[in-house]
Amino acid sequence: MTDISPSDNPCVCFVIPTYNEAPNVSPLLAQLTEKYGDEATRFLIVDDESPDGTADRVREFAAQDSRVHLLEGKRRGLGDAYVRGISHALDSLDADVVVQMDADLSHDPSDARKLLDRLSRGADAAIGSRYISGGAVDRGWSFGRRFLSRGGNYLARRIAGLVSVQDCTSGFKAISAAALRKLDVKNIRVQGYAFQIALLHRLIESGARIVEEPIYFRDRQRGQTKLGIRDLIEFFYSVWWMRVAGYKTFLKFSLVGLSGVVVNLGSFQLALGLGVHKYLASPIAIELSIISNFLLNNFWTFADRTMPGRRRIRGLKYNLVSLTTLGLSYATFVVLSMLFPDAPPVVLQGCGIIPATICNYLLNSYWTFRAGEPES
Ligand code: GDD
Ligand code: MN
Repeated sequence: MTDISPSDNPCVCFVIPTYNEAPNVSPLLAQLTEKYGDEATRFLIVDDESPDGTADRVREFAAQDSRVHLLEGKRRGLGDAYVRGISHALDSLDADVVVQMDADLSHDPSDARKLLDRLSRGADAAIGSRYISGGAVDRGWSFGRRFLSRGGNYLARRIAGLVSVQDCTSGFKAISAAALRKLDVKNIRVQGYAFQIALLHRLIESGARIVEEPIYFRDRQRGQTKLGIRDLIEFFYSVWWMRVAGYKTFLKFSLVGLSGVVVNLGSFQLALGLGVHKYLASPIAIELSIISNFLLNNFWTFADRTMPGRRRIRGLKYNLVSLTTLGLSYATFVVLSMLFPDAPPVVLQGCGIIPATICNYLLNSYWTFRAGEPES
């Protein structure tokens, strides 16, 4: 979906939130501007009136390097800062790619190159991951810190259902502007650290191709973490909220399925009433229900889910699955009609729906719409 090849020279915009990072922001900007010197690159620092003079450090840099930008605002949390920063990068800095990272040098500026490479090879989002092979967190991390990070990740995967990603709370990502525009960043309402999983949730929902690249997360050498109890509380209810949002989709999906049964049996009865032979009425009714299910799911259940990329292949798979469903349902009807010639046809037609639904579900969820790391 995004067309970023190295020769295109995309505009990469680093979005870096800071709160009291005066001792870190200068070395960080020095490394970044040096390492990413030859590209159309921007460095946007989002500072929320840090009392330690972080913004002044940034202004010193900006005076010498026009690629350095400063966005200031009131402090409402990490997520709020990211929403403002990413929106600014998209709307005012012409970003083709956004790289989000921490300012405290926990994220190695050199690693951003690896993330950008993955984007140029076709991914929509590349996550700097501590929890895949090759990745790690600082050996000096306390037990409490490890527990928080692992626990947060566990909740994000097990409760919110973000199972396709290993490091869900990572704050180091490169994301294409096209993917970001799709998921409507301004509508992310979380204020604090839960932003990481809220953003990831939306990326997955919008069908982005997400890959992970191992990183080493170094503990900060100066200053202290801003993670607070409010962030933890918000994180905790966010994972549950995401789960409920998943149920909503499941509920809609089930309702559509139910309506499909009505369409199938209703049109079958109607056709019989019109004198159509049952062996012809059956596949017609099944096909009608497949079509109505598809339309309802497309325009209602998954209306907000855009399926980018290999849409044609997915469409092809979907049709193959539908054909299998049709065949299975019809075969069941024919076999049952032969075994029980005296049973009411509409009951037998209804029986055909059962194996078809199971097969349809298995094939679609494990094949057509399978989640997981896409090849890039
Ligand atoms: N503008 C702004 N406003 N920046 C903030 C705020 C805020 O309210 N809160 C934190 N930041 C900035 C910090 O200045 C730093 O640059 C970055 O956000 C990360 O904050 P840290 O306080 O260093 O976070 P951490 O090291 O505890 O957490 C890191 O790991 C987490 C996962 O374990 C971050 O990468 C998190 O994003 C990540 O979820
Ligand atoms: Mn940190």
